[in-house]
Amino acid sequence: MNLATRLRTHSCGELRIQDVGKKVELCGWVQKSRDLGGMTFVDLRDRFGITQLAFNTETHKEQAGKTKELGREFVIRIQGKVAERSNKNPKIPTGEIEIVVEKIQILNPALTPPFTIEDQTDGGEELRMKYRYLDIRRNPVREALELRHRLGIEVRRYLDSQQFLEIETPVLIKSTPEGARDFVVPSRMNPGEFYALPQSPQTFKQLLMVAGIDRYFQIVKCFRDEDLRADRQPEFTQIDCEMCFVERPDILRMFEGMVRHLFKAVKNIELPAFPHLSYADAMKLYGSDKPDTRFDMKFVELKDVVSGKNFKVFDQAELVAGICAKGCGEYSRKQLDELTEFVKRPQIGATGLVYLRCQQDGSLKSSVDKFYSAEDLKKWADHFGAQAGDLILILAGETNKTRKALSELRLEMASRLNLRDPNTFSCLWVIDFPLLEYNEEARRWFAMHHPFTSANPEDLHLLESDPGSVRANAYDMVINGVEVGGGSIRIHDRNVQSRLFERLGFTEEEAKEQFGFLLNAFEYGAPPHGGVAFGFDRLCSLFGGADSIRDYIAFPKNNTGRDVMINAPSRISGEQLKELCIKTV
Ligand code: AMO
Repeated sequence: MNLATRLRTHSCGELRIQDVGKKVELCGWVQKSRDLGGMTFVDLRDRFGITQLAFNTETHKEQAGKTKELGREFVIRIQGKVAERSNKNPKIPTGEIEIVVEKIQILNPALTPPFTIEDQTDGGEELRMKYRYLDIRRNPVREALELRHRLGIEVRRYLDSQQFLEIETPVLIKSTPEGARDFVVPSRMNPGEFYALPQSPQTFKQLLMVAGIDRYFQIVKCFRDEDLRADRQPEFTQIDCEMCFVERPDILRMFEGMVRHLFKAVKNIELPAFPHLSYADAMKLYGSDKPDTRFDMKFVELKDVVSGKNFKVFDQAELVAGICAKGCGEYSRKQLDELTEFVKRPQIGATGLVYLRCQQDGSLKSSVDKFYSAEDLKKWADHFGAQAGDLILILAGETNKTRKALSELRLEMASRLNLRDPNTFSCLWVIDFPLLEYNEEARRWFAMHHPFTSANPEDLHLLESDPGSVRANAYDMVINGVEVGGGSIRIHDRNVQSRLFERLGFTEEEAKEQFGFLLNAFEYGAPPHGGVAFGFDRLCSLFGGADSIRDYIAFPKNNTGRDVMINAPSRISGEQLKELCIKTV
């Protein structure tokens, strides 16, 4: 790779022992400088690596003197000769050589950076975000961006090979009431009117199918004004895709193929075929629609086994379910109390935890010995397939709440048992989501995915009579407990689309006002179509083995949605507001 320019002959990561004797010119940032009396050594860094510079105080007095002016992160340019190092550093690729500097030029001095530009930095997150351009100089952050670049290239390579066309869709679009909150942009030329930034290009990609594009994709920014978490940013990137003339298995095959290609190309990992799990089973077995399947620990339901022994908590519960944590049978009282505290935290919301310790000597010890005989407890243990040395943890209560809490407990136990190795990958498709969910507050049905998702054809007749039981022709890809992508086969029939809008509580006028353009398009020969969108930032963090997507975004927002570097959002001038016809409060 030739990185030569008019200012340099090589990068700082390039020179090797074979280059000894060459005259070279390098540019970069001063990582550190060591004055050892007769010699001064400077580590010069750029994106490609670090090269040691050697200044001889006797033979090159003037140049060596200049090193006294150098501070960390100064930008310099040097000329010199490649020499073999007497003291080699096997830890870096250029560690066998150094440059004996003949000339040094300071291109730009630098203030002392507010944190160390090292792999392990002393800078806190907020400070690093404020000086993100310095943070990006650090290897882990730069490597994260390199990984993102590589994944983007491979996504394009795969989709291009499958005849997908990358097409850009507009960013200034129309606000819609479904989904998360929109970010809106006032229109100066249309006083009192607003654009919305897209939460996804959903309707446009469907229109591209009507337009006959057949296979579309876009690596595209999406915007959602929602509460932020480690895996959520207000602006994030999707790999957005849509295909014509397909049924669900076609989509699953195509995009399983894409993810397998990414793993092979970027990590040299061959993944096994992705299992399919229904939403109903996911909830029953893992209490989550995005189960972490790197480890087993499936839920076991035991209402029948535990009822009728005067233990009210179990007798009155809608669901009694538990997990078996292998090898935790000797947990101390303190550890069990910790787990009880864990499930009782408001975010988890369980009222208590029942445990059964299968001790090494074969005896069973539970927190409800008062109500259950040794024989009863043996039945429980058998029901779980538990062995000596295992710990059974049981929660009881209302079905959905109990499942949710047990799911958190399952993840907690897996973390304690080191079963969530970031270098192991377990992928699956979750399918057959409910089409609709009822919102008690709004007193109406909402589309669980979005209102363009088709119903499982077998269930469509239930849309009016039993909406809650209609399954969607939708799917999510889940990897290691992260929802990396989701999509559906769409409705392409105008009448079915109208029926769904009606079910969602839209009047005909409202549906026309919101989505008239799509309904109209459906009158002009809409092909059967479906698609999926992947969270690109999530995919990157998963490949990188990190929990937060922030490090994979060059300039991310903080927890309150602020860019602390450029200080946005910010107020705008009265003049601008006036021009936009916006009155402030
Ligand atoms: P959905 O809303 O499921 O589907 O989004 C697709 C994927 O985008 C990622 N994602 C996010 N990543 C980071 N920050 C966020 N705030 C965020 N929100 C979502 C997730 C998710 O799986 N138009 C449909 C797709 C389709 O039907 O084709 C859609 O947007 O990984």
